[in-house]
Amino acid sequence: MEITLNRKRLPESEVDSYVFGSYTGSGLLECNYGDKEISEIAQNFLSSYDFKGEIEDVCSFTTFLNGRLSRFIIVGLGEKEKLDIHGIRKSVNAAIKEAKKIKSKKVKFYTIGNTSKIKESDIVRIITEISILSMYKFDLYKSEKKKDSIIKIIISCAGPVSTELENSFSEGSVLGNVTVQARDLVNEPANVLTPVELAARTVKIGLESGFEVEVHDEVQIDKLGMKAYLEVARAADNKPRLIVMRYNGSPDKKSETIGLIGKGLTYDSGGLSIKTNDGMLTMKGDMGGAAAVICAISAIAKLKLKVNVVGVVAACENMISGKSYRPGDIIGSMAGKSIYIGSTDAEGRLTLADAVHYAIEKEGVDKVIDMATLTGSAIHATGYAADVVISNDDNLYSTLEKASHLSGEKVWRMPLFDEYKELLKSDIADLNNAAGKPGSITAGMFIGEFVQDKPWVHVDIAPSSWVDEDKFYFVKGGTGSGVRNLYFFVKELSK
Ligand code: BES
Ligand code: ZN
Ligand code: ZN
Repeated sequence: MEITLNRKRLPESEVDSYVFGSYTGSGLLECNYGDKEISEIAQNFLSSYDFKGEIEDVCSFTTFLNGRLSRFIIVGLGEKEKLDIHGIRKSVNAAIKEAKKIKSKKVKFYTIGNTSKIKESDIVRIITEISILSMYKFDLYKSEKKKDSIIKIIISCAGPVSTELENSFSEGSVLGNVTVQARDLVNEPANVLTPVELAARTVKIGLESGFEVEVHDEVQIDKLGMKAYLEVARAADNKPRLIVMRYNGSPDKKSETIGLIGKGLTYDSGGLSIKTNDGMLTMKGDMGGAAAVICAISAIAKLKLKVNVVGVVAACENMISGKSYRPGDIIGSMAGKSIYIGSTDAEGRLTLADAVHYAIEKEGVDKVIDMATLTGSAIHATGYAADVVISNDDNLYSTLEKASHLSGEKVWRMPLFDEYKELLKSDIADLNNAAGKPGSITAGMFIGEFVQDKPWVHVDIAPSSWVDEDKFYFVKGGTGSGVRNLYFFVKELSK
């Protein structure tokens, strides 16, 4: 599918569907620029049709325009004063779904929702990004592939195509595509996407987007002393790979380096603390944090942000064999802290503890953000609506909040009360990996024990990384969540 940004009226052969917006109860087309003849047809229809105009409401009709069958799609934008960029995301998605349903091929979008509060550049970015995300499907393993009708999307803006609009268009297109790439990584089954394969794909993505990738094998990981990570990886026949990504885009040599750490369990069976069959079914996606880090760095490099980042993914499988680590074991870690294993299913924090320590000690990162499908309790806490966040730094958290506003990926901060710290303790080791009832908080705080004095945010993306059914612009399976939050987080920090 091709997406273009345009201002001119195009020949009718170039377009077969037109998308307009309308606010609740107005009965009026919201767009007041562009092709008069075309908007009049849409307005005439709307005037005689009872269209509510709530967000996600959609109606369409087909008529002749200069001898050609043309489709008109009108989407609701809700109340004008209440419209925000999340509403526009939903409306764009509704329009694309309708265009698919009525078999449109070449769809022209006006910049719907263009108010004094919402910049046209944001709308251009959203239309581009959401068009790509709404069209996603994972059909690699299907012998018969269903083809979508849409081959082209044209975004028609109100004024001249300025550099600002061009930049937003490029940003939306890159963010859409890297998010799709993250979805593909999550959706790949674990028998295909092993740690070795994840490393190979990262190398390829690095070459295509312009960042450096270094991969350490199990012997090198052992030499680095990453004991907690190796314990988790020990039972699996598929060997672990430590994936390190470096992008130096800052012209200032002395500027800080941001560490992006992603949980990279290519499969989580739970280990000896084994999961149920249902619990295991989606655990190929336990590398959603890694996918977010890899694909966000791809976007950062492609869009040439002036910033230095290091990405670290301690990729491995959590499996069962005679070599498995056991509940009740006491294991070491790269930082030298001993850890009592309360559950082998609380493996993510063990790999992340070593990955964070590696990033600080060996790569010299100044700030840390880690992203992980870490706990089922995060899903219980926010019910799929927002990711759970822990942070030791108010400024860094507010940067993530700004990013979240731009990405539409919601976050919710949990408290770091002293009482919880007690729960991390073990009577026979320095730490316990499966302590306490506030599951997402203690899981995050466990990682916090390894961040030293660095400003740090931990994002548990278990709520958002997977959907069991199609929802908004998500398609059943991996959502690619976290990519856009990480990108905007780093972009904010680069300002
Ligand atoms: N990968 C899981 C968390 C998870 C569960 C992510 C469901 C997405 C969907 C993680 O490794 C895990 O098993 N966590 C346990 C921790 C517990 C044993 C302390 C959990 O959340 O139940
Ligand atoms: Zn687990
Ligand atoms: Zn896990």
